[in-house]
Amino acid sequence: MKNLILYYSRKGENYLNGSIRSIAKGNTERCAEFIRRAVGGDLFEIETVKAYPADYMACTRVAQDELRAGARPELRQMVTDLSPYDNVFVCGPCWWGTFPCAVFTQLEALDFTGKKVIPLMTHEGSGLGRCERDLQKLCAGAVFGKGLAVHGADAERSEDAVAAWARAQV
Ligand SMILES: Cc1cc2nc3c(=O)[nH]c(=O)nc-3n(C[C@H](O)[C@H](O)[C@H](O)COP(=O)(O)O)c2cc1C
Repeated sequence: MKNLILYYSRKGENYLNGSIRSIAKGNTERCAEFIRRAVGGDLFEIETVKAYPADYMACTRVAQDELRAGARPELRQMVTDLSPYDNVFVCGPCWWGTFPCAVFTQLEALDFTGKKVIPLMTHEGSGLGRCERDLQKLCAGAVFGKGLAVHGADAERSEDAVAAWARAQV
């Protein structure tokens, strides 16, 4: 069973347990790497052409505007063909209750017929939010694994939990 691990993760300022800190590696990126270490597969980072503001509060405003407008930000590169894969892990931070719009840009470009889609979301309190419902709309023809929510501030220490969950999905 071949796995694709798609992830979006923002470096720079982040909100961790009530304070804003600068981090070199995004929380979701860590989790995506834990998935690969546990079950193997191809890791693909979703990156926008236009960078989001490094400033946390400014970023939240841009993200909210995008979500309201149904934006589909342009990506630097995209996966175009899922035929080599059986399972697609979709990993991203919770932005206003769901994945960043950039994740949707990527998902809309793919044919999910017959694939298994497994969401992982890092968050600061919202859990999986409404990401599973949104994925069901965007990934027509897929079957869905059990989603995992990881508290972003604990991402560094989540390897055992992420690995056990990932192994149970594939
Ligand atoms: C634009 C933006 C919006 C966010 N909205 C939420 C939210 O609605 N609920 C929540 O629990 N956390 C929210 N957060 C916190 C992130 O989900 C959390 O810090 C996540 O772990 C960041 O992952 P990353 O480092 O991989 O980008 C938001 C963060 C940003 C930057």
